[in-house]
Amino acid sequence: MQTETDIASDPGHSDRQPDGNSTLPCKELPDPKRIRVLLAHYFQHFHTLRCFAFIHKTSFLQKLDDDLAARAHNKSSLLHMMCSIGAQFYALEYSETVEQFPPKTILAAGSQWAATARSLLLGSFDQISVENLMTAQLLYDYSLRMANYTQAFMLSALMTRMTHALQINLEYTDDILGHHVDSNSLSVTARESRRRLMWSCYITDAQCGSGVDQLMLLEDKDIKIQLPCDEQNFLQERPCITRMLSGSPLPFVPVDLVSANSTNTISIAAYFIQHIEIRKRVLKYIKHLDQASLPWLPDSEFHLFDDELQTWHSSLPAEIQFTPSVIYLRKESNELGALALLHCAYYQTMCDLYRLGAPALYKLRSAFYFPPEQDQFLRHLQLSLFKAARSIAAIIADAARHGPAMVADTWLPSITYDSNRIMLYYLTIIFNPSDQGTKHLVINTIPYLQSNVQALKMMSATNAVAEDMYHASHSMLEKLGVASDSISPQPQLVLDDPYLANFGAGRDSTPGTPSQTAPDYVLNPLSIFRMARSDIPERHAPEKTHNTPIDTGSSSAALAAPGHNDQQDSNIDQGQAFGPNLDMFITPNLIWDWQPMETAVGSGMNSEGLLPWVDTSYTSYVGDFIS
Ligand SMILES: *[C@@H]1O[C@H](CO)[C@@H](O)[C@H](O)[C@H]1NC(C)=O
Ligand SMILES: *[C@@H]1O[C@H](CO)[C@@H](O)[C@H](O)[C@H]1NC(C)=O
Repeated sequence: MQTETDIASDPGHSDRQPDGNSTLPCKELPDPKRIRVLLAHYFQHFHTLRCFAFIHKTSFLQKLDDDLAARAHNKSSLLHMMCSIGAQFYALEYSETVEQFPPKTILAAGSQWAATARSLLLGSFDQISVENLMTAQLLYDYSLRMANYTQAFMLSALMTRMTHALQINLEYTDDILGHHVDSNSLSVTARESRRRLMWSCYITDAQCGSGVDQLMLLEDKDIKIQLPCDEQNFLQERPCITRMLSGSPLPFVPVDLVSANSTNTISIAAYFIQHIEIRKRVLKYIKHLDQASLPWLPDSEFHLFDDELQTWHSSLPAEIQFTPSVIYLRKESNELGALALLHCAYYQTMCDLYRLGAPALYKLRSAFYFPPEQDQFLRHLQLSLFKAARSIAAIIADAARHGPAMVADTWLPSITYDSNRIMLYYLTIIFNPSDQGTKHLVINTIPYLQSNVQALKMMSATNAVAEDMYHASHSMLEKLGVASDSISPQPQLVLDDPYLANFGAGRDSTPGTPSQTAPDYVLNPLSIFRMARSDIPERHAPEKTHNTPIDTGSSSAALAAPGHNDQQDSNIDQGQAFGPNLDMFITPNLIWDWQPMETAVGSGMNSEGLLPWVDTSYTSYVGDFIS
């Protein structure tokens, strides 16, 4: 097809010149043929990710033809945004198959249309419409991709207000199945599209809020719509009855219409939404450990969450599980990226829950003190944390094998990076040079560490932040000596981030405890809120009261003990901790909650069984990474 080659020589229809000179960006949308190619990439690769499938493809394309005929399309912020995202995926495919581009070139594809979409959107700031909300959601994700966290953070607020004004948190009518056709009413498809848009905003809000009440603008109880139906029903415009987030059907749906199979008609996105709801509560719990019961008690919040998460995961229907046959099935329907994200999200939440066994790694402020008799429980937490991180690496490697578009979600780079941090941390605390078992584990973990590094490299074509993470994790592995045969994870080698040194000097290290608490102190440095704050010139944080610095040689057990918090904080602020840590690299000027590294707890490792879905072909694939 001639048009294909035309665009191919010009990915994203940017004004890349053969001689490398570029002229001013061309802001006009390309001709209709090229628009259709870009939209095909949008629908194939982006639409199916996460919860972004809110545009009904065939009605959109039908309306587009009318608009193109009437030359009305150049005013559409939504179309500009879709072309911009389509251009990135187009450039990605081109780079994979024809001529390789550096990641920055792929990310820059279509940026002129994103800029136009942004000015159209903000220019009609006071015109609240479903279409503008869709543009805002796409621009939000685009901003994350380009590592423009401030813009993403502000857009998330705009979007919440739009959902309030549009009231898409409520069902449009009681007549879910569209039995009573009324020409004034919205079609069944338009209503499903609004529902999906609302859920997409729900996820955005959860992601920006990270379990901090102050930062969360949407409440679960106010969302009184059903979960998205499955993709086939949506595409075919078939109405169906699903369930609300709480699991119960909508109160006004007649009981006889709620079939027993109504969970079979929900999409992958619906499972993702369900998981995000649990995740919000887990993150909230982990930020309020000072009010929580001791985790080893049978009825502790920890055990309840642990049960709830595992029950949720084990009750996923077969066609949602991460098994080889489902992987190929979902690849066929372009849903492999969404499937991988769902499972990564689950294991990431498990990591977030089990991190209370590794307070030093996560700089938890109100960590539990584990008495000696809970040693076994502590080791169980740490081993489970490690296993969850390794599962993430396995899933990402399996998805990445099918191409970079499968790992293009904006959440994946930090999940992948964190997975490596956790695995390295675990190896450090259990490693015992005289024990063959732990040596064996270290050797067996290396392929997972390496595949994460490779995946981060791959992700840098679709997520700007992944490039920095790739370099940081790559040099950590080099320091570990992966290329040589004398690998031994020693804290000073493994946990000393190569970038830390560069920024250590300029760091604000005022010792003390803040007199007022702020989300800065409880959030992961990679959270959108902290990333956004790091872009602001004025980022005043609550004053700190000074404490007398103490001897830094104290044991971690004493530091974690209740009543030793001040001591803990002053150690933190002397920057005693070292971790495989990008924090300082990304936001060098913030004050961190540094906590001292935990001392080794011995080697509690006896089994490290393969993951249920890991068949031998996967193992041999991982084996390819061993040099
Ligand atoms: C974010 O995007 C806006 C608008 O395109 C731009 O002006 C700003 O410089 C960007 N910020 C960063 C940190 O990239
Ligand atoms: C499943 O539900 C649909 C309507 O949602 C219904 O038409 C179909 O007969 C049901 N199938 C079974 C096996 O109950």
